[in-house]
Amino acid sequence: MDYQSFLNQRLQELKNGGAYRYFLEVNKSAQHFPNFYYDDEKGQPHSAVNWCSNDYLSMSTNEEVISKLGFVTHRSGTGSGGTRNISGTTNHHKELERTLAAWHKKEAALLFNGAYQANVTTLQTLGKNIPGLVFFSDERNHASIIEGIRGCKNEKKIFRHNDVEHLEELLQTIPADKPKLIVFESVYSMNGTISPVKAIADLAKKYGALTYIDEVHGVGLYGESGAGILEQEDQQNSIDIVNGTLSKAVGVFGGYIAASATIIDFIRSFGSGFIFTTSLPPAICAAANKSIQFIQQNHQLRKHFFENLKQLRAAFSNNEIEFKQNNSHITIIPIEDATKCRQIANHLLEKHGVYLQPINYPTVPVGEECLRIIVTARHLPKHINHLAYSLKKILHGDNQTDWQEFPAVAVAD
Ligand SMILES: Cc1ncc(COP(=O)(O)O)c(C=O)c1O
Repeated sequence: MDYQSFLNQRLQELKNGGAYRYFLEVNKSAQHFPNFYYDDEKGQPHSAVNWCSNDYLSMSTNEEVISKLGFVTHRSGTGSGGTRNISGTTNHHKELERTLAAWHKKEAALLFNGAYQANVTTLQTLGKNIPGLVFFSDERNHASIIEGIRGCKNEKKIFRHNDVEHLEELLQTIPADKPKLIVFESVYSMNGTISPVKAIADLAKKYGALTYIDEVHGVGLYGESGAGILEQEDQQNSIDIVNGTLSKAVGVFGGYIAASATIIDFIRSFGSGFIFTTSLPPAICAAANKSIQFIQQNHQLRKHFFENLKQLRAAFSNNEIEFKQNNSHITIIPIEDATKCRQIANHLLEKHGVYLQPINYPTVPVGEECLRIIVTARHLPKHINHLAYSLKKILHGDNQTDWQEFPAVAVAD
C-alpha cells in the first residue's frame, strides 16, 4: 500500500468538503488579553480581539494563579515524572482532588489530563465492567462521550436533545432489572442549551439508572460558588458522577470526575486511561487549586462575566444582529452555510481584527453552521461595541459608515 498517497487522498477529500482545519496562531498576551498577536501569510504582524476563547473568567491571566504556577514549578520541577501509581502523586494532586470533591459535594474526585480523557476512561470502564450496562446518551453529547460509549460496545440508546419524554420512552424499552447509565451535559457549548437536570435526575430515580453529567462548560460560571449548573439548580446530590475541566473557566489544565468514594476508587483501580498515563505536573494542580479558591471567593467575577454577556447581547439587539435566545453564556449567530460562515470569519479577522471560529460540520450538523461568540470577564465595553459594529457591517452589508471611523481596538488601548 502507498500509505502517503492514501492519507493524502483522505486529506484532500476533507479539504474539498470544506471541513479541513487551519490553525491560526493565537499568540496570547496575559497583559492585553483578550487581544492577541498573529502573523499573516506574508509574515506581517497583527493584533486582534479573541471572541472564541473558553477562558471564560480570564483566570489564565490571573496574577495569583500565575504566581502559584511559577512558585510550585520552582519548588517541585516541571513534570511529575510518573503515573499516579508510580511516583506521580504529590500533596498538590491530593489537595486538588479534595477541593474538587468538596466543590461538587461528592465524597471524592479523580484527576485526569483532560475532561476528554476523563469522559472516555470513565464511561468505558463502567461499560466494560458492569455486565449488561445500557447507555442512554443525549444526541448532542460531546465527541469524548461518544468515543467513550463506542469504545465499550455496550447497548446504547440515543435520546433527542434535552427531550425527557423521549428519554423515558427509551428507558421503558429496557427491562427494569438491567443496569442503566444516563449520560448528558449541563451546558451544550455548540448550541448554548442547558439540560433539564432535575427532570433527568427524576427519571433516573424512577428507572433505577446511574447518572453522568459533563459540566465542562458549567464549572466556574454557574451556582453560588461556581460549582456549575448542578449547584445552581440545587441538584448536586441527585447526579451520581460529575465530569469537569480545569482548562476552561478555571484557566489552567486538566480534567476530573467527582462521585462517591466507591465509584472513584473503582475508576482509579480499573480505568486504563487513568492508570497508564503520567499524572498532571504538581504546579498545574496547585495553580488549578488556587484558581478554584479564587473563583469560589470572588462572586463579583462571575457577576461581572454575566454583566458582560448582558451587554454583548444588548449591543447585538441594538444593532439588529440576530442570535439564538438561550439561558447560557454562549451566544450563537446562525449562518446555516459552511462557505459563508468561513468567509465571514476570514473577513472579520482580516478587516476588523475580530477573531471568531466558524462552527461547521462535523462540530454541528450540516445546515446549523454558525458563529459562536464567547465574551470573557476581560472584554471591555469598547471590545463589545467594536464587535457589534463589525458584525453589523458584514451581516447587513452596511457600507454607509466608513470603517476608518471605528478602527480595530488597538492593543495599546
Ligand atoms: C462538552 C465537553 N466535554 C469535554 C471536553 C474536553 O475537555 P478537555 O479540554 O478538558 O479535555 C470539551 C472540550 O474541550 C467539551 O466541550
